[in-house]
Amino acid sequence: METKIYKNPVIAAKETALTVAKAVNENPGKLFCFAAGDTPMGMLGELVELQKAGKTDLNSVYYAGLDEWLGVGYKDKGSCAQVMWDNFYGSAGILPERINIFDGLTGDPLAEARQMDAWIKQHGGIFFTVLGIGLNGHIGFNEPNTPGSDSCSVVLLDNVTLEASKKYFDTPQTLSKGITINWKTLLEAKEMVMMAMGENKASIVEQSFKGPIDPGVPASLMQRHKNLVLVLDEAAAKE
Ligand code: PGA
Repeated sequence: METKIYKNPVIAAKETALTVAKAVNENPGKLFCFAAGDTPMGMLGELVELQKAGKTDLNSVYYAGLDEWLGVGYKDKGSCAQVMWDNFYGSAGILPERINIFDGLTGDPLAEARQMDAWIKQHGGIFFTVLGIGLNGHIGFNEPNTPGSDSCSVVLLDNVTLEASKKYFDTPQTLSKGITINWKTLLEAKEMVMMAMGENKASIVEQSFKGPIDPGVPASLMQRHKNLVLVLDEAAAKE
């Protein structure tokens, strides 16, 4: 694992966007998977700027949405679909046929999981993923102790995640489940960047990467990844 520590989230976002753009430029046709939380938003915004400046062609690769809250869709401000379309896919002018995301409004979550499995397989697996780390160590909606699987998972959300959900939605939601690409599939990605910013992530970063691999701290499972780059700002790297 390589760790990069930047002075602040703005510099971390710019530098990581350059890394991702280089990977896009060198690997047309490959599958990219970006988390939809607050953490990667600055980086995704920088990628949009690189696209507008003609420094990368984000339509040369494919995308798999990492996760979604079940029960919400694009029209719900705060859903992963809304956040990603309005801040990244749409702003960058990425064509819908390049993108596959989970439909949180589905009546059949298992079918939704299977269609994402098929999309990932069709594109030769995930090539490059950029992940955030939840306060409970989750990655996507791989909550503590989510079993490893070759298929996407429908999970009961942890209380820490339900509490954190309030910052994304401007109206109260009755959420209980999420759908996510499983951590085992993420581990198979060729390239992986994990980002954490701010002092409130310092403790979970320490638990995830200084402690042992522990299924109770899903981010720690990524210690097994051969090309993991951990991107932190100074505050998140405090411990
Ligand atoms: P955040 O969420 O980026 O909004 O802090 C991280 C996560 O839950 O993966």
